[in-house]
Amino acid sequence: MNPDRVRIFDTTLRDGEQSPGINLNRAEKLQIARQLARLGVDVIEAGFPAASEGDLESVRAIAREVQGPIVAGLARTRDEDIRAAWEAVKEAERPRIHTFIATSDIHLEHKLRMTRQEVLEEVRRAVTLARSLTSDVEFSAEDASRSDPAFLAEVFRMAVQCGATTLNVPDTVGYAIPSEFGDFLSDVIARVDAPPEVVWSVHCHDDLGLAVANSLEAVRRGARQVECTVNGIGERAGNAAMEEIAMALRVRRGVDGPDTTLDTTVFAGLSGLVSRLTGFPVPPNKAVVGRNAFAHEAGIHQHGVLRNRSTYEIMKPEDVGAPSSRLVLGKHSGRHAFSSRIEALGYSLEREMVEEAFVLFKNLCDRKEIVTDDDLEALIVDEILAVTPQKRLVLKDYMVQSAGRDRATATVTLVEGETERTDAATGNGPVDAVFSAVKRVTGLEPQLLRYNIEAVTERTDAVGQAALVISLDGVSAAGRGASTDVIEASLKAYINALNRLFQICEGRQVARVVEGSH
Ligand code: KIV
Ligand code: ZN
Repeated sequence: MNPDRVRIFDTTLRDGEQSPGINLNRAEKLQIARQLARLGVDVIEAGFPAASEGDLESVRAIAREVQGPIVAGLARTRDEDIRAAWEAVKEAERPRIHTFIATSDIHLEHKLRMTRQEVLEEVRRAVTLARSLTSDVEFSAEDASRSDPAFLAEVFRMAVQCGATTLNVPDTVGYAIPSEFGDFLSDVIARVDAPPEVVWSVHCHDDLGLAVANSLEAVRRGARQVECTVNGIGERAGNAAMEEIAMALRVRRGVDGPDTTLDTTVFAGLSGLVSRLTGFPVPPNKAVVGRNAFAHEAGIHQHGVLRNRSTYEIMKPEDVGAPSSRLVLGKHSGRHAFSSRIEALGYSLEREMVEEAFVLFKNLCDRKEIVTDDDLEALIVDEILAVTPQKRLVLKDYMVQSAGRDRATATVTLVEGETERTDAATGNGPVDAVFSAVKRVTGLEPQLLRYNIEAVTERTDAVGQAALVISLDGVSAAGRGASTDVIEASLKAYINALNRLFQICEGRQVARVVEGSH
């Protein structure tokens, strides 16, 4: 193995999915995992199997289906967590158990209520158990960057003795700054003096906006695994953004600097997929994958780029798969052209899904002259993948009246099983009115935590994509909907969120935020 190869450990489906308001269903997680494999990540952390039956099943599905990367399951040091992680990943081509416990005095005193000695004993027990199940065991010292380096080194030495093959140093609360984090890491690596086959890893959060900088500094100091997420999603301010780390390493590599083996041309598509599935928009000015990352507005810049791209471009849009032209389909496009385009966009859908999507595509062609890749993706993600397996509430019909400054009035008909119910409500705008009508029909009063509507293309006949998060009795769920009519897109998103909420409550998957996890 090339000693300068940096392994990419993707935790979009675990730490990323822990962001408030994100809950991906199994089909969505599989879509992301397949794209991560196409990208060539080294490890996919597919979830936290002990958190719920649903998490375990999703991790298992990824372990069974996705070939190439190592598939890891996260576990606290408890026996039942480690066994659940193993159950979930054991069918993977290359399974990994990732176990963790906090090591900082703050966490020991206030969260774990354990002594250092007790933590050491937990590490011994957990890593030994994990290692008896698989030869690939990662150990993470949560809140490592705020831990006493002498104790941290003792903990890592114990993990190595018990068989850990990767040692991870998380900056759990995003407190570190690059030079200090680099010195800290070098110190810990020297103190542990692990055998060369043990891989040092870092996992940085972005509370001070330094996650990528800290990760790059760690690579300079010898880390050869970096934990990160697509678009930098994750707890609070998020995790280090994978596309930024990978492009920084590639662009600034020089002749023989450390690098990943990623196919970076997958980035743009994957970023869009993750953003659509999670409902977390990518800011236009986001490095590498933002809509404006390669847009040159100032005349002087445009002039320079036209003469020679290197004047203002340090990487080429095609290096990250940024689309230079988006293909279009129309009402004369047949099933074959349609399904080939879906595949080219990186989606692998089951046959019935393709059929369903084709019908929606034809309906869309009646409303819209040309259907772009963006429209297609919105349709697939919001109308096919977002739909929960058990669609409890189905939108049958709706009507909205809104004139000038008057309050809007909406009537909504929903079907639940055999029962059809209609109710009406007013609101301070058409969206408010349709949401209120749904509340009346269902008798539920969820709180709207986030609501975003975006046109996927520039034209006025664009498909509008609505993404929102609702919360009821402490459980939150995200929903999405797409339509050329923004009211309909919003209404679909609201109903989608309610269906997801029912699903979460049924499986009591609320235990996602398991005590002590990050
Ligand atoms: O932030 C953190 O410390 C984590 C660990 C579980 C690796 O996510
Ligand atoms: Zn984390």
